[in-house]
Amino acid sequence: MASITIRQLDEDLKKQLRLRAARNGRSMEDEVRTILRAATGGDGSPSPAIAFGAPSKPTGRLAKPHPSSAAGRVLLIIGGGIAAYKSLDLIRRLKERGLEVRCILTAAAQRFITPLSAGALSGNAVITDLFDAAREAEIGHIRLAREADLIVVAPATADLIARMAGGHADDLATAVVLASGGPILLAPAMNPTMWMRKATSRNVAQLVADGARFVGPAEGEMAEAGEAGVGRMAEPLEIAGAAESLIKGGTRPLVTRGTGPLAGKRIVITSGPTHEPIDPVRYLANRSSGKQGHAIAAAALDAGADVMLVSGPVNVPDPVGVTAIKVETAQEMLDAVELALPADCAIFAAAVADWRIAAPSREKMKKQNGKAPSLMLAENPDILATVSRSRRKRPRLVIGFAAETQNVIANARAKLEAKGCDWIVANDVSPETGIMGGDRNAVHLITRSGIESWPPQSKDEVARALIARIGSTLDGGC
Ligand code: C5P
Repeated sequence: MASITIRQLDEDLKKQLRLRAARNGRSMEDEVRTILRAATGGDGSPSPAIAFGAPSKPTGRLAKPHPSSAAGRVLLIIGGGIAAYKSLDLIRRLKERGLEVRCILTAAAQRFITPLSAGALSGNAVITDLFDAAREAEIGHIRLAREADLIVVAPATADLIARMAGGHADDLATAVVLASGGPILLAPAMNPTMWMRKATSRNVAQLVADGARFVGPAEGEMAEAGEAGVGRMAEPLEIAGAAESLIKGGTRPLVTRGTGPLAGKRIVITSGPTHEPIDPVRYLANRSSGKQGHAIAAAALDAGADVMLVSGPVNVPDPVGVTAIKVETAQEMLDAVELALPADCAIFAAAVADWRIAAPSREKMKKQNGKAPSLMLAENPDILATVSRSRRKRPRLVIGFAAETQNVIANARAKLEAKGCDWIVANDVSPETGIMGGDRNAVHLITRSGIESWPPQSKDEVARALIARIGSTLDGGC
């Protein structure tokens, strides 16, 4: 059996334990015993108070919120998925940042991890039941919700997301979220097919519209053997970083939208390459990094917009606060964009593959005695052209990109006509420019009324300039 001594605890945890023990007139060891007993519900005596930083002696009445010395208070709701084990590490990562953590485990979560481990790591009693009379009398789910500076839901399963989007309150997790009214960060984790379902996208979009923030999911292998795709929970470090920046106020608005030049505007952005499968392990791709598209998403967010970011496989992180829909193929990207519309503006920065393999092999293709296979290509749908010509869902402003290696402006002008969009952002991506995958860009903005050539600048600066232009155009009507 593993053993742990107080000496081995990190300094922050020790400090909190010392304070808590002193408040309750106990030794540090006795305080740990009390916490562990309460976490397992095995003491038979009144459990320690549930409130953040509250003294652990029951008071018989609602304890007053206790001023916390922590950098902020996180209420971590752990949902029932295999990724729940990563949430134990998340507790440590949050605490490393000086955040106080209180955990709620859903009934399903308790099939994956125990309240004992979450309680020991967080240093606070874990709450599991909406209908626990003793605990409800001590703190109540309403106060629990209100005392948190941020609610983090990790893993946020498809079911939890659906119930939160629907305003359910039939268990502790959903009741707390409904009662909160404060900032919420969700880290989804589910099977890729579930993540791609329209029902899930609808629920995610609803939560975003209600002010929730998302981090992940990431692409990768699933716990189920042989399954891969988008649906893995973001790594604990990434979630903790997002939580910290939201608590600090970050650079971005939280729940309160309504500030910035794009406040109240909904922007759909595509970014990155697409991957077109050849067989289960090989694909056709291009060198797009997603840096420019993601920078535009961040700039739109900073300007107060609701941002739906439809991204192909990239290594750059999604800006915290966008609704990120991860796709692989052009067809998936089109499906996701159609789902994300209507919008005030759509920016198609992705480098979408023009062709896909007509009939990808179901099994890994094998070498055949020196005879190379021939691959038949089929044309992909053109997302920019489809949306530009849509009668029902065309945004007021549709912007395409043109990555060219010759006749940049002439080709871009032709593209504006051929695709029916309003603007084209054109650039020369010849290898010697270093633009593809690099951090800088030199673009021409081609509109129906003329051409502007912008000076070489960082991709962030291009993004901010473009968003400023979009803001003034949408304001002036177009
Ligand atoms: O035709 P071309 O690929 O050069 O056009 C580039 C622009 O069209 C970009 O904005 C890109 O995102 C968009 N596009 C698209 N769907 C495709 C191909 C390109 O939306 N299948």
